[in-house]
Amino acid sequence: MLYYKSATSGPIMRIAILGTGDVGSRLGSKLVVMGNEVRMGSRTAKNAKGAAWAKAAGAKASAGTFAEAAKFGEVVFNCTLGAVSLEALKQADADNLAGKVLVDVANPLDFSKGMPPTLTVCNTDSLGEQIQRAFPDAKVVKTLNTMGNVVMVNPGLVPGNHDVFLCGNDGLAKAKVVEILHGFGWKSPIDLGDITAARGMEMLVPIWLRLYGKFQSPNFNFKIAR
Ligand SMILES: NC(=O)c1ccc[n+]([C@@H]2O[C@H](COP(=O)([O-])OP(=O)(O)OC[C@H]3O[C@@H](n4cnc5c(N)ncnc54)[C@H](OP(=O)(O)O)[C@@H]3O)[C@@H](O)[C@H]2O)c1
Repeated sequence: MLYYKSATSGPIMRIAILGTGDVGSRLGSKLVVMGNEVRMGSRTAKNAKGAAWAKAAGAKASAGTFAEAAKFGEVVFNCTLGAVSLEALKQADADNLAGKVLVDVANPLDFSKGMPPTLTVCNTDSLGEQIQRAFPDAKVVKTLNTMGNVVMVNPGLVPGNHDVFLCGNDGLAKAKVVEILHGFGWKSPIDLGDITAARGMEMLVPIWLRLYGKFQSPNFNFKIAR
């Protein structure tokens, strides 16, 4: 059985991408290609990377502040630096996140003491849970954080069967995220349960980083054999 499939267009929505880095650009571009309207958010309205991305991605793409993007989106992706995601989401404003699916792709990595980074939170808590507690009216779904950004939207790049995980407290929110993951090409996302599963998903990242060092390429992924 193939664990991924050819990408489909999926549902058409207004989507906010909070973050102007590689992950935000990659996910934003794919979501535009799938037919969605996408606004990328940043700390400043005239962020050069946000503006360049919007210009390159075409008429359905735009850029603004975190708050402007979050207000625009029916679904909001957190693609910000994990160590400061709570701050970035505060700038997005709780009112703009309330009632919405908040897809958390971030990893709580602390690079302040050099490489390899450590996790700012782990074992008994996670960034996904911190975000859910800080924004109780948002429906946080953690996914896609266990792989490189190119594989996120192109699972067929890695040969064979391999997996994407998700977790969150709201079943309908997870169903919406699964639809989006299908659109990216993932056939059978593995639902790990409530948001506390974000602990394990985030604690996979140190081993991902080791493997990246070993393979000297981000084009690999975890596969669950059973
Ligand atoms: N790179 C990957 O392939 C990969 C894979 C899996 C998960 N992730 C995770 O995905 C997230 C995004 O990664 P990335 O490499 O694309 O981008 P990144 O460099 O980790 O984050 C970029 C974003 O963080 C914002 N930011 C930085 N400092 C901030 C602060 N003090 N307050 C508020 N916002 C701040 C930036 O805002 P401005 O736009 O204003 O500069 C920018 O939008 C990270 O959490 C990362 O761990 C990355």
